[in-house]
Amino acid sequence: MRVESLRLTCVRNLAPTVLAPSARFNVFSGDNGQGKTNLVEAVFVVATVRSFRTTQLADLVAFSAERAHIAAQVQSHGMTRLYDLELLPGGKKVRLDGKAVRPLSKYFGDFNVVLFAPEDLQIPRGAPVDRRRFLDRAVFNRRNDYLPAMQRYELALKNRNAVLRRAADGGLPPRQVNELLDVYDEQLAELGCAVTSARIAYLGELRPLVQAAFFEITRTGLVADLDYACAGKRGMTEGAPSLDAQRLALREARSKDLARQATSVGPHRDDLLFFLEQHDAGSFASQGQLRAIVLAWKTAELQLLTQLRGDPPILLLDDVSSELDAQRNRFLFEHLAPRAGQCFITTTHPSHVMVPAADRRDYRVSGGSIIQVDPSG
Ligand SMILES: Nc1ncnc2c1ncn2[C@@H]1O[C@H](COP(=O)(O)OP(=O)(O)OP(=O)(O)O)[C@@H](O)[C@H]1O
Ligand SMILES: [Mg+2]
Repeated sequence: MRVESLRLTCVRNLAPTVLAPSARFNVFSGDNGQGKTNLVEAVFVVATVRSFRTTQLADLVAFSAERAHIAAQVQSHGMTRLYDLELLPGGKKVRLDGKAVRPLSKYFGDFNVVLFAPEDLQIPRGAPVDRRRFLDRAVFNRRNDYLPAMQRYELALKNRNAVLRRAADGGLPPRQVNELLDVYDEQLAELGCAVTSARIAYLGELRPLVQAAFFEITRTGLVADLDYACAGKRGMTEGAPSLDAQRLALREARSKDLARQATSVGPHRDDLLFFLEQHDAGSFASQGQLRAIVLAWKTAELQLLTQLRGDPPILLLDDVSSELDAQRNRFLFEHLAPRAGQCFITTTHPSHVMVPAADRRDYRVSGGSIIQVDPSG
């Protein structure tokens, strides 16, 4: 898969730009605040129709403009398609090959991106809700049926929580409360099992790839590992709770949930665990080691998608190198070189990106202008 051309108009601080990126490593260097992340964001947004920095796509429109336009010509499996997103005062217009896309789901599928953003570094030591979102994004990329399963689960959860609140208000007689909760518990147990087992199955596929990538990137002999925490258990090593166990857990939580007016068990409370030498990575790993774990996850995600689709997705690496020492940077790019397809890499120091000269194209980002440069210059 490859972005053959990228056209940007009025996107954040970026000058109107037309790029023809190389099929391999495209390195964008520049000082802080020049527009490097803005470029990575533009590629991410035209592929996914959402941003990793804001929930308001309108934030991408340049301060001085009313509308922004991002268009990418993408080649995948021998076909070239034009992905086109326009941000207007009233909303957005999404076109594929010049035609409006309805439903929007038709836009997705052949333009896959895997992103590493510096914020991801905080994932192992951040809040469980962010780790769940991080995991869910990877599972969405892996399987098309996961998003609808997750949405059905969230709807059932919302319904159960509404009954818990109405019970507390006295808006429903106790018998009706119990009847409704019986119905929602059954739905939640079934849908929750589907969500949990999709997450655990995904982690089962990813785990050996993460371990191997971490080993290659760090070459310290230290072992990184993952697990999934559900209902007080380690889901990957001890097994996921069965349907009966989920039913029982909801049943047992009912009186506590009625008192708290919220559902206390299920995948919306689970967690993704990262380990370094069997210790919680968030508490014990160094900055550089954390970065290596998250990078190992991202390269594993890339490899898994490549195995499934027969074509590597586009890799966006925003400022990967700043926390890695020179040796670890070299190992990272040695690991990536044979595995990655097209990459967009940003850095403040182009020498940190150690990829073969023949596979690399360099750009300088300065005050929103992006200019191709000779790598030695
Ligand atoms: N909607 C917008 N219109 C115009 N400029 C914007 C808009 N949004 C952000 N900017 C500007 O973009 C610049 C930041 O760009 P960006 O985040 O891409 O920098 P960067 O090169 O990645 O820097 P760093 O190395 O610090 O990560 C800031 O100067 C900011 O004011
Ligand atoms: Mg940046």
